[in-house]
Amino acid sequence: MRPDAAPAIRLEDYTPSPYRIDRVHLTVKLAPTATSVEAKLWVRAADHTTAGTPLVLDGDALTLTGLELNGLPLLQNAFMATPARLDIKDPPSGPFTLKITTQLDPENNTALMGLYRSSGTYCTQCEAEGFRRITYFLDRPDVLSVYTTRIEARASEAPVLLSNGNLLDHGKIAGTDRHFAVWHDPHPKPSYLFALVAGDLARVTDSFTTMSGRPVALNIYVEHGREGLCDWAMDSLKRSMRWDETVFGREYDLEVFNIVAVSDFNMGAMENKGLNIFNDKYILADPETATDQDYANIEAVIAHEYFHNWTGNRITCRDWFQLCLKEGLTVFRDQEFSGDMRSRAVKRISDVRLLKTHQFPEDAGPLAHPVRPRKYKEINNFYTATVYEKGAEIVRMLKTWLGDGAFRDGMNLYFRRHDGEATTIEAFIACFQEASGKDLTQFFRWYEQAGTPKVTVRSAYDRKAMTLTLHLNQTIPPLPGQPSAQPAVIPLRFALLDERGQEVIPARIDGAEVRGDVLTLDRARQTVTFHGIDRPVLPSLGRGFSAPVQLELDQNTQDFLFLASHDADPFNRWQSLQTLSTRELIRLTGHIRAGEPAEPDRDLVQAFGGVLGDDALEPAFRALALTLPTELDIARELGQSVDPDAIHAAQRLLLKAIATAHSTAFETAAASPVPGPYSPDAKAAGQRALVNKALGYLALTGGEETARLIARRFEQADNMTDRIAALTLLVHHDLADAPKALDAFRKRHAGSPLAMDKWFQVQATAPSGATLARLRALTRDPLYDASNPNRIRALVQSFAMGNPTQFARKDGAGFAFVADSALAIDGRNPQVASMLLTSFRSWRSLETARAKAAESILKRVFETGNLSRDSADIVERCLQ
Ligand code: PHE
Ligand code: ZN
Repeated sequence: MRPDAAPAIRLEDYTPSPYRIDRVHLTVKLAPTATSVEAKLWVRAADHTTAGTPLVLDGDALTLTGLELNGLPLLQNAFMATPARLDIKDPPSGPFTLKITTQLDPENNTALMGLYRSSGTYCTQCEAEGFRRITYFLDRPDVLSVYTTRIEARASEAPVLLSNGNLLDHGKIAGTDRHFAVWHDPHPKPSYLFALVAGDLARVTDSFTTMSGRPVALNIYVEHGREGLCDWAMDSLKRSMRWDETVFGREYDLEVFNIVAVSDFNMGAMENKGLNIFNDKYILADPETATDQDYANIEAVIAHEYFHNWTGNRITCRDWFQLCLKEGLTVFRDQEFSGDMRSRAVKRISDVRLLKTHQFPEDAGPLAHPVRPRKYKEINNFYTATVYEKGAEIVRMLKTWLGDGAFRDGMNLYFRRHDGEATTIEAFIACFQEASGKDLTQFFRWYEQAGTPKVTVRSAYDRKAMTLTLHLNQTIPPLPGQPSAQPAVIPLRFALLDERGQEVIPARIDGAEVRGDVLTLDRARQTVTFHGIDRPVLPSLGRGFSAPVQLELDQNTQDFLFLASHDADPFNRWQSLQTLSTRELIRLTGHIRAGEPAEPDRDLVQAFGGVLGDDALEPAFRALALTLPTELDIARELGQSVDPDAIHAAQRLLLKAIATAHSTAFETAAASPVPGPYSPDAKAAGQRALVNKALGYLALTGGEETARLIARRFEQADNMTDRIAALTLLVHHDLADAPKALDAFRKRHAGSPLAMDKWFQVQATAPSGATLARLRALTRDPLYDASNPNRIRALVQSFAMGNPTQFARKDGAGFAFVADSALAIDGRNPQVASMLLTSFRSWRSLETARAKAAESILKRVFETGNLSRDSADIVERCLQ
């Protein structure tokens, strides 16, 4: 079959399952290459099912070794079994049981889906369609069953045996070296939430008392010797549990909450009921090996998976098109949690940065899709920034638009009405419609239309009439498969500021719905008039990034500079500087490409000094404000004929001008000690961020003395944040001490694969013509492992996504390196391969030579025989 011949699954084709499976008893007898799984299923036809409808169960690469119906072996002609499905041709009309036995080879399961082994530990990954690699099943999220799982293994190989729910029984198996455990999960759940873990693991334990006084045992299981690295994860878990009670009224619902950290995992973590399985990089942390960002990520991912217990598990998805029902909502919840744990403004700015650098480009290219897609060929390719991050923005817009009270009522209604169900986005939105009394039909377009809306604003002040008029215009640019789009509902938080920065309150507003400080657009063109404006004002629009749109304001440099220093909304202060920097970088890029001399704008350069010196601003905010838009941001803004080298040069030019103009202030900032011993809290992290940002500016202009200072910082650092910051400067600026420091780092951290990932990443992101050769050599480093997803992300993915000049080398060698890495892993692990290939998504916006190079490599990949469905789908869409 040609790779593009795979059929698409369509939302409109959804039909309820003809059969239900009320109960599942699994008996899993573990052995490395021959595990047997006996699944006893209690099946009954749904009310709407006509008698004699065949029962068709999903499978994936399965070997059937036994089959009984109501306790009797099934005759050969009564069923049909292939590795990919099991048909029971004429099932009984009443309820019946099926006993299916399959045989698995976990040791050689390299796709990391289904039952596999990670460093000897047996573990499972079932979302989205991995349960069908364990047994034949109705492997769809709207089939909810109560699971009882008996696990058997050699006691010495796997002293720890875990599954979902509560532990019912455990003991030795007489006359053997094996033992067993029986777990029971009383909550009906879809198969994608099933999990099993067995291995020789260490346990870190704690407890939590829920708001109604029930005790919950908390356990984190890790490799022996890593127990000391779990404190932060455990602390984050307890804070998450308390927060969900306080803010959403959600209590935990089992006697035990188990988390297991594994080192081979395709994604971040998985919310299996009562047994979360994590990529160990989102669990393990100490100051020696984890950065401040790692600590923040751990806190967020722990919270995210825990919050899924209600948004995802208690209430799950009817089908995979509804993925953002659980993901968008749960990301929104974890972002709110982190906002409460840390600086809200800083968290918001970081989230928006992520959205703009990852989701906006996705939404502007060939991989663009609605937050709720209408069709897919491979669901694994839809765990995207659009579903997660834009999905979260939609929930946040509901809160902004409807107000806190109606939002809370809508959430409560959702929990009350849909608990125990597999449901849809429509059902979710209906709760807010009822709670608010508003018609949300048009708002629903956010789920159905791809693309980032662009809102242009032209403003006019009439002193005589005392009015400010805004002419607003919204459009979504055409996309593959979406030639045109309808106007969206766009809530804009706003304020009007006079020349002293004081807020001016209008007497009346016409032309848009207004509630408090939120005005909502809902037409392609709209004129909004503010009355009673007795002095000239500047509008501050989209405060807090109240809608995921691209705002094009008609304000000039002076206006933005004013907002950058006077806006009471920290997000818009940050945004104003970003907007100016973007304009400036685009202008400089143009000059550089034309071979003309270019001089950065003095006022803008000056403004950065203002931020640096403003002690009233928190250090974390200053560090973010001093960070220019990324080279990828500028590429996305340009949208066509992108020359990454020119963008890089423009970036350097502006950074250097800022560094030169404020060298003394940067020296002072870089020399300010962060008080006390290392602590990962947000305040100390912010102080470190500012010090390291200042050091980064010094590195651009400094001579030998600065180089020595950076080398000293590297040697003397007592935490990973400072050490890796210094190493990055040494390597990315090609300073004399770089090779020595790289060696020292490698020696120091050779025993920590997660720390070594940073070492690979620093080298992969170096903007130098020598990088590619260096990476090729690194793939042969004994500490590199070309089958581990974290290593591949650190070396190949960070090169593809974080090194625009070298990935898009004119000779195509960067593209070839990434494509060949993808092909090398595709047969073993299609998910990781397709993840690498998504980095080609913006190839059409490159200038001709580079675009041609990318296209020919994509075509070569597409024509490779035996390409996985995952990779074929990405490449096919990239080429469309
Ligand atoms: N559901 C997981 C999460 O968002 C992500 C995931 C998807 C993990 C598929 C593994 C496989 O939390
Ligand atoms: Zn999730």
